[in-house]
Amino acid sequence: MTYGQGEFGTRAEQPGGPARLAHFYDRLDSIAYGGDYNPEQWGPETHAEDAELMRVAGVNLATVGIFSWAKSEPAPGAYDFGWLDGHLDRLADAGVAVCLATMTASPPAWLARLHPETLPMTADGTRLHPGSRQHWCPSSPVFRQYATRLVEQLAKRYAGHPALALWHIGNEFGCHISRHCHCEVSTAAFRRWLRARYGTLDALNSAWSTDFWSQRYGDWEEIHTPRTAPSFRNPTQQLDYLRFSSDELLECYRAEKAVLDAVTPGVPVTTNFVPVAKTLDLFTWAREMDVVSYDSYPDPHDPDSVHEAAFSYDVMRGLRDGQPWLLMEQAPSAVNWRTRNGRKQPGRMRLDSWQAVAHGADSVLFFQWRQSRGGAEKFHSAMVPHGGPETRIFREATALGAELAAHPELLGSVPERAEAALLLDWPNWWALEQDAHPSADARMLDAAHAHHRPLYDASVPCDVVPVDRDWSAYKLLLVPNLYSVSQETADRLHTYVSSGGTLLMSYFSGITDEHDRVHLGGYPAPFRELLGLRVEEFEPLPEGGALRFGGGGEGTLWSEELALEGAAPILTYADGRPAATRNPYGTGHAWYLGTRPDPVTMRAILDRARLDAGIRAPDLPVGTQVRTRITADGRRVAIRLDHREGTVTVS
Ligand code: GAL
Repeated sequence: MTYGQGEFGTRAEQPGGPARLAHFYDRLDSIAYGGDYNPEQWGPETHAEDAELMRVAGVNLATVGIFSWAKSEPAPGAYDFGWLDGHLDRLADAGVAVCLATMTASPPAWLARLHPETLPMTADGTRLHPGSRQHWCPSSPVFRQYATRLVEQLAKRYAGHPALALWHIGNEFGCHISRHCHCEVSTAAFRRWLRARYGTLDALNSAWSTDFWSQRYGDWEEIHTPRTAPSFRNPTQQLDYLRFSSDELLECYRAEKAVLDAVTPGVPVTTNFVPVAKTLDLFTWAREMDVVSYDSYPDPHDPDSVHEAAFSYDVMRGLRDGQPWLLMEQAPSAVNWRTRNGRKQPGRMRLDSWQAVAHGADSVLFFQWRQSRGGAEKFHSAMVPHGGPETRIFREATALGAELAAHPELLGSVPERAEAALLLDWPNWWALEQDAHPSADARMLDAAHAHHRPLYDASVPCDVVPVDRDWSAYKLLLVPNLYSVSQETADRLHTYVSSGGTLLMSYFSGITDEHDRVHLGGYPAPFRELLGLRVEEFEPLPEGGALRFGGGGEGTLWSEELALEGAAPILTYADGRPAATRNPYGTGHAWYLGTRPDPVTMRAILDRARLDAGIRAPDLPVGTQVRTRITADGRRVAIRLDHREGTVTVS
């Protein structure tokens, strides 16, 4: 196999593709197929079998080195990559490209022994110890120094290696230590971050509303991370701590990326995100990546997981404005970390994989290649199970590899832009789910799923967009629970609708500003004119409670006393009070839901709003989906997914 044939070399020049992604695409002939490969867990006989089985399964990419720090630096500064050389050479000879991890996800035991201050601390002062993984404080300069030194050695050693296709920084930032560090070093870093954000203590005191409960600060040294406290902690302090945590982890990523950019400027860089992570502001992170990577673990026991995966893939595609992304990890069958770990039934792995490709993935990669013999993940499925190649899972993996290889035109093809979009904003998510709110039931992902689902069920594609993007290309914009919103974003939403857009917003939106201070002037002050109404009172429902609508169906979770100021009711409760409204504004329309309608009613409303916006649904059987990608030579390739069970007749 020779690399860099250049057949697909122009892909990276397609919209959104940073030029150095060509380095990645040039090493592949079709969708990247393979997964995490941990040869350090095995001996030479198994390595030889790995090479043969990878050929059989059609593997063309392996992610190597994720947890190899201890092996590559057995003592401080004593680097040993000899063990890795042979593996990379063997993969190169076999035509398998390598996504090389920087190994920094899990430091060796000696780091904690030498520098216990690098261990993270929880809000109640508990130090977290080595013995699992990710046991490092994101603010620790000592950790960053050891990590970047290792990365420099690694990058220099493999800079020209023919297998090197892509760098993989760390692993799942924020998965285990998203908000856990409250040590002195993190506290000092938090203070520096606050000084940069606010400049003066007066500005901070004002933003944090510290005249409440005598919380006013007279010196920066008085400020701490939100540690365990007797009662509710300051909401803006908590919100800023979440912003800081995301930024601080991003600094760790940036520090490694700076080294890689200097040593191997032509090699693209990524890191893998955990399933729609609340803790990282992914839109900010994605700007620093050449390609977005994602780990997807839908629960085979949960029928809704198919839709939730579809939503998460729409998020990943949206992070870099429609650019294809990488499915970096999925399980061939069961995971090991749920209470009950269901297997993927025959065919499900194939369907899940094509679902990712249909939603814009340029890779189908697994955790992991070979099932571990020992360690905490020995019951996690792998492409080569404990039972070896004579197993259903390996046979399915082999068939899938062949199927993907038969469609080279899909690699780098551009996902077709949707006509509808859903607005997602991480700081709003953080603010929405704070404590001491009217109801704990206002949850961001739950709301996003409930709004995305009716479009999905109608097989209508939906993009996911941030608050700072130009939404004018979209006919319909869904805005669930935009609780915390700046006046500027609110103004842009007015412009979107007045220029002809259709907006559908739901309850508990427009309540606070970016500092979580209430927008005064009657709820939702920034949107009253746009929506043509005022919310006089919230009325969250008790657990499991519901309110009947006049024409059937019911509102759940939440209700509001709406005073209409121009909007027309489109749905009323049995007692005649409005539950949902529609307001003409400029040349567009603003819809508003004061409750969470049951799924059937939600679908009916979304169908109406969609038609209002001029979006038609394809004529497809329920349970099937079609998504389209556009190839480098301009062909539209439709991928049809059929989630129905049993035998069906397809014409
Ligand atoms: C991911 C992680 C992998 C592996 C996998 C198991 O979160 O990146 O290293 O632990 O989960 O499902």
